[in-house]
Amino acid sequence: MRSWAFSVEVAETVMPDPVDLKDKLAQVTSLWDPKVIAALNDYHFKIARIEGAFVWHSHPDTDEAFMVIDGKLRIELRDGAVELVPGQLYVVPRGVEHRPVAEEPCGILMVEPAGTVNTGDAGGERTRSGDEWI
Ligand code: NI
Repeated sequence: MRSWAFSVEVAETVMPDPVDLKDKLAQVTSLWDPKVIAALNDYHFKIARIEGAFVWHSHPDTDEAFMVIDGKLRIELRDGAVELVPGQLYVVPRGVEHRPVAEEPCGILMVEPAGTVNTGDAGGERTRSGDEWI
């Protein structure tokens, strides 16, 4: 009996509910305000709703991954730009200046170390801590 009870406990621990990206995005009402939806070791998966242009910035200590869930994202770089549609992924290397731009409403997933702030080294009024879970 004891081992059976233990098995049930383990099963509940290792089988959390799946995280549905579109369901999570539907809970986000603010723009450019990343929310954490999952953690992987010291990294966070964050989603955000964006529209318009963000600020130029870089992250001196980390790469930053972007994936589009809905809409279109353009990541401007000093020597060009990349356009992403749903299902596409792009990793901005550490230290590389970038500016995300969405000309229509867009939902994105980002993967980066916990504690990474959205404005990187630029700071300013659009800075969000990015450590709020939904
Ligand atoms: Ni960034």
